[in-house]
Amino acid sequence: GTAPLASLAVTQTPGMDVASYQGNVNWSSAAANGAQFAYVKATEGTTYTNPYFAQQYNGSYNAGLIRGAYHFALPDVSSGATQANWFVNHGGGWSADGQTLPPALDIEYNPYGATCYGLSQSAMVSWIRDFSNTVLSRTGRYPTIYTTTNWWSQCTGNYGGFGATNPLWIARYSSTVGTLPNGWSYQTIWQYSDSGTFPGDQNLFNGAADRLRALALG
Ligand SMILES: *[C@@H]1O[C@H](CO)[C@@H](O)[C@H](O)[C@H]1NC(C)=O
Ligand SMILES: *[C@@H]1O[C@H](CO)[C@@H](O)[C@H](O)[C@H]1NC(C)=O
Repeated sequence: GTAPLASLAVTQTPGMDVASYQGNVNWSSAAANGAQFAYVKATEGTTYTNPYFAQQYNGSYNAGLIRGAYHFALPDVSSGATQANWFVNHGGGWSADGQTLPPALDIEYNPYGATCYGLSQSAMVSWIRDFSNTVLSRTGRYPTIYTTTNWWSQCTGNYGGFGATNPLWIARYSSTVGTLPNGWSYQTIWQYSDSGTFPGDQNLFNGAADRLRALALG
């Protein structure tokens, strides 16, 4: 099944996420320090690819981490389907090898302009659904959705319709995960800091390592 994982896990499994800013990552060192998974930025919009993607995506895999690829959404430049195809064609695939997480959509504050990219809340929900459905049809997995509760509330009207199908990767730099977006009663992954033990951002998978592998297997 493709549903997110069970709630109320007590064991949290550490991991990380990286992008071009981290450059060539020492994956054996990250693994030795306890990282068990990594999300790697593959693409953004409809033109960008991370020049370090192969080193990061293959290197994490070769060091034994469970890895996944993510796409940074720019909903004002092209449709959700167009960006999903760009993503899947440039690293955002999935295979049932037990070491590949569902592809992820990073949808959050616009670093280049208006917070919600000039889209209405209903247009934003439609954009995300278009992206999600395209990734599903291309890979067989619903994408993980990375966001913040505040952005989701402001830019989708706190839409609750993805919680039953798409795993939640919530960003909140605090000692607690806080209120989640509507539709999710628990997070699958929590990005809790932008610095720490590992290169890049610090994350916790909401369960033990066997559940992480189950998420990878689908
Ligand atoms: C990676 O880090 C380890 C220490 O954990 C070090 O021994 C090794 O030389 C590093 N590799 C590279 C390529 O820097
Ligand atoms: C990364 O791994 C894939 C197979 O999983 C392979 O096809 C590709 O050539 C590798 N890329 C590099 C740069 O090693």
